[in-house]
Amino acid sequence: MYPAFAHFRRTATKDTEIGGKQIAEGDKVLMWYLSSNRDEDVYEDPDTFDVHRNPEHQAFGAGGRHFCLGAALARLELKILFEETLRRFPDMKLAGKPDPAVSAFLNQLKKLPVSWPTT
Ligand code: HEM
Repeated sequence: MYPAFAHFRRTATKDTEIGGKQIAEGDKVLMWYLSSNRDEDVYEDPDTFDVHRNPEHQAFGAGGRHFCLGAALARLELKILFEETLRRFPDMKLAGKPDPAVSAFLNQLKKLPVSWPTT
């Protein structure tokens, strides 16, 4: 639902058609991961976060030749980040509004205020 990168750009290597649009060789094509993860032709309820949704999201690309080379490392880092954060701060709670970065490329937060009870 909220991929870290909003889009990447590719250059078409041959004439083709995508979604009824003609693409000519050499055209620059933006791939909006934000949009593809909310594709109403693919998902029944595209704008609802559903943890059980088919995990074939496109946050790391769509499985083609440019699929993220670091996906396995990123997944491992995120797994450890969540495991360790939950282990150390099991009572952590949101303590304010998330502050999103203002960027057409990065879909990330600058701040996510949290708090936890101190003993
Ligand atoms: C949560 C973290 C990350 C996200 C969301 C992410 C996302 C992406 C996306 C969307 C692409 C383009 C895929 C496509 O067009 O099919 C990509 C490509 C790539 N990523 Fe990542 N990435 C992450 C972490 C990393 C890490 C940790 C590394 C390296 C250690 C890495 C290395 C690369 C490289 C080299 C490519 C280009 C692959 C190519 O063009 O053949 N990424 N990534």
